[in-house]
Amino acid sequence: MKYTRRNLLKSMGALAGASVLPVSADAKSPQVLQFSHDPANLDEIINLYDFEKIAQNHMSHMAYEFVASGAADEFTVKWNREALDKVKLQTSVLNDVSKIDTKISLFGLDLPYPILIAPTAFHKLMHPQGELATARGAGAASALYCVSSFTTTPIEDIAKVATGPLWFQLYVVDDRSFVKDLVQKVEAQGCKALCITVDTPVSGVRNRQQKAGFKLPDDLKPPYMIDTGFAAKGQALQFKKALTWKDLEWFRSITKLPVLLKGILNPDDAEKAIQSGASGVIVSNHSGRNLDTVPATIEVLPKIAAKVNKRIPVLMDGGIRRGTDVLKALALGANAVLVGKPVCFGLACGGADGVTKTMNILRKEFEYAMALSGKASIASIDASAIWQG
Ligand SMILES: Cc1cc2nc3c(=O)[nH]c(=O)nc-3n(C[C@H](O)[C@H](O)[C@H](O)COP(=O)(O)O)c2cc1C
Repeated sequence: MKYTRRNLLKSMGALAGASVLPVSADAKSPQVLQFSHDPANLDEIINLYDFEKIAQNHMSHMAYEFVASGAADEFTVKWNREALDKVKLQTSVLNDVSKIDTKISLFGLDLPYPILIAPTAFHKLMHPQGELATARGAGAASALYCVSSFTTTPIEDIAKVATGPLWFQLYVVDDRSFVKDLVQKVEAQGCKALCITVDTPVSGVRNRQQKAGFKLPDDLKPPYMIDTGFAAKGQALQFKKALTWKDLEWFRSITKLPVLLKGILNPDDAEKAIQSGASGVIVSNHSGRNLDTVPATIEVLPKIAAKVNKRIPVLMDGGIRRGTDVLKALALGANAVLVGKPVCFGLACGGADGVTKTMNILRKEFEYAMALSGKASIASIDASAIWQG
């Protein structure tokens, strides 16, 4: 038996997933104790919260803190969940829900359900197969995977194993020829849309990451992470601070891909996005990792949806953990949602299988939520699904 933390816990008869026991003093290898690559028993996992608890035993402390934490006092992290919990659903009974149709179409892509994998960085910190496992897991769940600029695997390798659609998320750095080459490379590799992250001119004040001593291992070199100083300084993330609305014209000139702006929280910015030719917006507060105390995304979503008024698709992420959350987001104006942390935890627990199970659970819960609320199709989900009090 390997001396993994999980196996020790098991042999001590402790509950699976317990995380409070101190590391044994006579342990053979503290490093191994901190990070087990053994897959978790996925059968024990029923919902997305289970994944997070169990993932803690399958990741280094630093990686867990990287994924789980937010910025500063984590008010926005908390509010994302609280605000979703506060929204109440309204049912409508005796509708024919014998067939639930969750299909959507986004920028010409037909997707079987409206839940996408959000771009998250450094998947090799979570699992040795990194983004390859994510892509395989996404494909097996028929989910769209948006690859982060901070992938630890080149896009060519991801594209080779992907069986589902890919998008690419872009952090814009000062070196324009680098950005242009990267955009054209991901387009050539078959990525179907570009999500430019616009909420991160600098990184947030990530105290928990600092406390956990976040640092990329020396042998982990994300291929497209240049010019940021992130790896060297551990915390200060420097992007193209002067990125402005005018730059969007340039992006449209170098790619035919639909360009989405990720990180919109202000309805006026949504209007500017449309005027600047953006194909879509993603209402996101980066899971509370950037500017603490901005509002929950579900709170902002109806205002943005009203401003956009169906001219372009509106996507949303932040705290989506239940099928009912997906239903609420769609009822309040989203065309689709994305999930970030749950996929990272799924990856840590079981590689590709963990990612697949994460997406399948959420998809199934969403189908149940639709049936139980009396909505058989995506088109039928509107404000009538929300309890008005
Ligand atoms: C570990 C982690 C890494 C992330 N890395 C990126 C990234 O590289 N680029 C980006 O645009 N957003 C990144 N995000 C934000 C996600 O794309 C997404 O907005 C957010 O995670 C959604 O909220 P949720 O995690 O509560 O589902 C990251 C989020 C997490 C948790």
